[in-house]
Amino acid sequence: MKLILLGPPGAGKGTQAKRLEERYGIVQISTGDMLRAEVAAGSAIGKEAKAVMEAGQLVSDDILVRMLASRLEQPDAAKGFILDGFPRTVPQARALDRMLQDKGLRLDAVVELKVDDAALTDRIAGRFTCAKCGTGYHDVFKPTAKAGVCDSCGSTEFVRRADDNRETVAARLEAYHQQTAPIIPHYAATGILKTVDGMADIDEVTRQLDRALAGV
Ligand code: AP5
Repeated sequence: MKLILLGPPGAGKGTQAKRLEERYGIVQISTGDMLRAEVAAGSAIGKEAKAVMEAGQLVSDDILVRMLASRLEQPDAAKGFILDGFPRTVPQARALDRMLQDKGLRLDAVVELKVDDAALTDRIAGRFTCAKCGTGYHDVFKPTAKAGVCDSCGSTEFVRRADDNRETVAARLEAYHQQTAPIIPHYAATGILKTVDGMADIDEVTRQLDRALAGV
């Protein structure tokens, strides 16, 4: 299965992508995670992306398209993938169409997680991740079972993203509405767009996704 998960920052793309990975045995490709790895490694791309990401703006299409094209060449993407955070602009959507066409592939579904902007700031401001295994949590909506201990690996080290603050969220939301939302009609026109209520609780969103993808 080849999927795109679409939605504004904090919509739950990463949370649901992890569950879809397990359910369908396909890989999550998060361009945000890839860029954060570049920043952490201090690479040329990371140096260029760091300030842009911290300002809540979008990194250049050119960098993202090259990065995605090379990621799709990896063997683990051969049996399917969940794109989380790409495409984010109309030029990226067109570049993806070309990449898939060149490989004789096509997308099975594009799922939009619909969420009210007002809910997103609280979701993002409360997010934290296990530094060891990457499991994602939320101070209120998805706390660890035992305070300060990761449910998955038992680590006591957690991290918060540099762009997860109330000031940057406003810029990220603006970028979503201005630059990313315009790709929705592109996919609606192809008949593969599905919409899920991202305001529901995490398990209910997963159930809705399962229903939306049944028969795809
Ligand atoms: P990226 O890492 O893609 O971030 P984002 O799109 O802003 O999305 P998030 O990761 O913040 O949210 P999410 O939807 O995954 O939510 P999550 O599941 O974690 O991009 C970061 C930056 O990189 C961009 O700003 C840009 O600069 C750059 N970039 C990346 N890709 C790019 C591209 N293609 N082009 C250009 N630039 C690019 O959930 C959030 C929190 O809410 C969690 O704590 C979770 O536990 C909780 N939660 C999830 N679902 C629910 C629910 N249903 N109810 C209650 N709480 C929930």
